[in-house]
Amino acid sequence: MRHSHNGRSRRGFSGLIPAIVLFLALYAGFSVVAGSWAQEALRPAQETASPTGGMVPGESLGSASDAEIWRAVRQGAQGNVSIPNAMAGVLIQSEGENWRNIRNGPLSVYGIWGLLGMVIALALFFAVRGRIRIDSGRSDKLMERFNDLERFAHWLMAGSFIVLALSGLNMLYGRYALLPLLGENLFATLTQAGKVAHHYIAFAFMAGLVLSFVLWVRHNFPDKTDLAWLAKAGGLFTRKSHPPAKKFNTGQKLLFWLVMLSGLAMSLSGIALLFPFQFGYFEPTFRVLAAIGFDVPTQISPMAEMQLSQIWHAIVGLVMVMVILGHIYIGTIGMEGAFDAMGSGQVDRNWAREHHSLWVEEVERGEPKGKGRAKAAAGGDD
Ligand code: HEM
Repeated sequence: MRHSHNGRSRRGFSGLIPAIVLFLALYAGFSVVAGSWAQEALRPAQETASPTGGMVPGESLGSASDAEIWRAVRQGAQGNVSIPNAMAGVLIQSEGENWRNIRNGPLSVYGIWGLLGMVIALALFFAVRGRIRIDSGRSDKLMERFNDLERFAHWLMAGSFIVLALSGLNMLYGRYALLPLLGENLFATLTQAGKVAHHYIAFAFMAGLVLSFVLWVRHNFPDKTDLAWLAKAGGLFTRKSHPPAKKFNTGQKLLFWLVMLSGLAMSLSGIALLFPFQFGYFEPTFRVLAAIGFDVPTQISPMAEMQLSQIWHAIVGLVMVMVILGHIYIGTIGMEGAFDAMGSGQVDRNWAREHHSLWVEEVERGEPKGKGRAKAAAGGDD
């Protein structure tokens, strides 16, 4: 019984073999037919699209498709050209696509949120704190705070910065904000004028930056008064609180260094953009970063140098505009008596005693470190 059972099952199993072979044969046949059908389905479209039928014209490479070459081209491989511009040997520069996506994507989006955030924060601060008044009222005495040269340096830097900021913001956001309002012709004229102004006025900004640095750097080194000032947050959030300060308080020192360093960064990256492909700051910087363990590329093409310069220029510029909005606020509507310092150069003595008590003492002691001498002026103050 056992034997006959085994014999039946072996017979049954061996009966399956032809069925499997037939199935495989059918499947293989179907695959071949389906595969060639699929190819046929695609081929006519390609052939009608390509006048050479997918062949390299002139048969110079002798093949219908050279995937490796095109892959290398897509990945930025550089070929040889006989014109002076060797960079024309790169047909597709993929970093350009990344650059465009970053510039028109996160850079612009975070930039506009940052600017709006700053305006909202200042409006809230004004609503809550109001204008910071001279607590002891105006006196009948004025003091020279900034002489003509200092005010010239400030307004050279500030005036040029405002033109640079507006024309720069137009480059980033104008097509969204102004083009629909002004129409193509006016927007094009304005943008072209803004671009030319941006290029030339940049040098006035650099001159103002250097002059302000030379005139004010000695007043901007940190000292022990800064700790007390910081501990009270400069009295910004507390009424009638006036921590002592010399010519510049800690907030102003921070602004000074921020303007100087970001102004230098803007100048260097701006010069790299103004004279294309002449400067490459990123490759040496990235080499240093790579040497200390950062995972950054150490070879940067001249085109990628330009793209990185643009991104850097825009980021630093946006941060500067945000900070300067705060500065303009406090120098105008935010604080009574502040604008006089850069307007006429003469400030009310009570304002000076409240905001720069140590500086007033220095000036009144006649110390050479203090700029200007106390002056009494009869009558009104502004
Ligand atoms: C309408 C625009 C501006 C106004 C009304 C303004 C106003 C002022 C005032 C009143 C001061 C003197 C503060 C004091 O006496 O303690 C000052 C100082 C200064 N400003 Fe401006 N400013 C303007 C734009 C700018 C810009 C665009 C920059 C730089 C890019 C700048 C950089 C500085 C620096 C570094 C100081 C010295 C440090 C300080 O006082 O904060 N200012 N500004």
